[in-house]
Amino acid sequence: MAQLWGGRFTKATEQKVFDFNASIHFDKNLFPQDIEGSIAHAVMLGKQGILTTEEKDAIVKGLAGIREDVENGSLVIDETQEDIHSFVEATLIERIGDTGKKLHTGRSRNDQVALDMRLYVRSHVLEVDARLKELLWAIYHIMEENIETYMPGFTHLQKAQPVTVAHHFGAYFEMFKRDRLRLKDIYARMNYCPLGAGALAGTTYPLDRNYTASLLGFEGPTANSMDSVSDRDYVIEFLAALSTIMMHLSRFSEEIIIWNSNEYRFVELDDAYSTGSSIMPQKKNPDIAELVRGKTGRVYGALMSILTTMKGIPLAYNKDMQEDKEMTFDAILTVENCVELFTGMIRTMKFRKEVMAKSAMNGFTNATDAADYLVNKGVPFRDAHGIIGRLVLYCIDKNVGIDALTIEELQTFSDKFEPDVFDAISLKTCVEKRLTYGAPGFESMKQILKMYEAYLAED
Ligand code: ARG
Repeated sequence: MAQLWGGRFTKATEQKVFDFNASIHFDKNLFPQDIEGSIAHAVMLGKQGILTTEEKDAIVKGLAGIREDVENGSLVIDETQEDIHSFVEATLIERIGDTGKKLHTGRSRNDQVALDMRLYVRSHVLEVDARLKELLWAIYHIMEENIETYMPGFTHLQKAQPVTVAHHFGAYFEMFKRDRLRLKDIYARMNYCPLGAGALAGTTYPLDRNYTASLLGFEGPTANSMDSVSDRDYVIEFLAALSTIMMHLSRFSEEIIIWNSNEYRFVELDDAYSTGSSIMPQKKNPDIAELVRGKTGRVYGALMSILTTMKGIPLAYNKDMQEDKEMTFDAILTVENCVELFTGMIRTMKFRKEVMAKSAMNGFTNATDAADYLVNKGVPFRDAHGIIGRLVLYCIDKNVGIDALTIEELQTFSDKFEPDVFDAISLKTCVEKRLTYGAPGFESMKQILKMYEAYLAED
């Protein structure tokens, strides 16, 4: 075991205590960020004359060498160190000698870890966003190809009114578009650099915090040193956004599982994105969709965990905050994987258009349109609703759809029915007449698709 802080102690740490306290087995993930932050810090110390140019150069070169060696595998991160910061500093001193001991001037592990975590989260905000954009492209292409693919729209999981695949997928386009907006918002709010906050109260060295911030691509330095080392809001916000993404993916997965069931048969998943059963040879299971739905739980868990960890922490840094990492790392990787796999799954999924259209025709999805037909002939809507209700009951008894009745049968319910009713309640008319902004009608959908294409092209 190796520690940065032995001076004040007269006894070695109990091994179990060391192990309990240590974080290297998970914060080694922050190695690239730790190096990047340390280089920026050293460059700033050099510019400010706190380090000589030679010292600064030796440190920067040393750090770059450590990065290269870890990346090419010739140096292995030593897990007997307490944390990643200790590993980097100890290796630097081992390689360049006493000059390495000057790197930590005007810095604490508190602002160091706050920076590392921020850099990590910031880069993954961009990564998740890029994957969501891929998903949106996949949804967009499906929409484009299915403006006239009819399917039933549901409420209460009961057939309600006919829609199209383009319209149904458009709902998810909106959800993931909002998710991207949330990420953009989080990025802008978190993009301030905590380095230079020291342990909690800044430092007496003449650091140039603006300079370090700009070297690391931040908007500027954070404005309160106590908040800088104890703020994990950006982790919470990111996990909340990730949880919302998973909630959306999970709803979508649930629908695909239903559509893929033997009863629905609306879609056919590609063999490359399905799995079989070890005992039942006929099975082709939607495991990817089920796993995405299932993994939503662990992402929510990460959010609940950090919210609970943070709720009782007095200012400023407390060791509790080390718990911000493991579940966050896991949640981020989980979401990145889920978005990617889900995208592949829907890209390769086939729609059984005839099955969907047939299903859209059964189940009286045109009942509202039949009522609207009577309204157009002067019947008040409430009366029309009652007439069609009785008509549906009659059809259920005969086990037929409204459009299968003869005009004479229809006229026994209302003398306003004329032969043009059949066209008015056809599946095509039911969808095509819905032309309000945001509705499934062909022209409305074209307008939305144009807007989506422009959005994806520019953002
Ligand atoms: N491993 C610690 C963490 O993740 C680093 C900061 C340690 N600071 C301290 N004062 N013990 O939060």
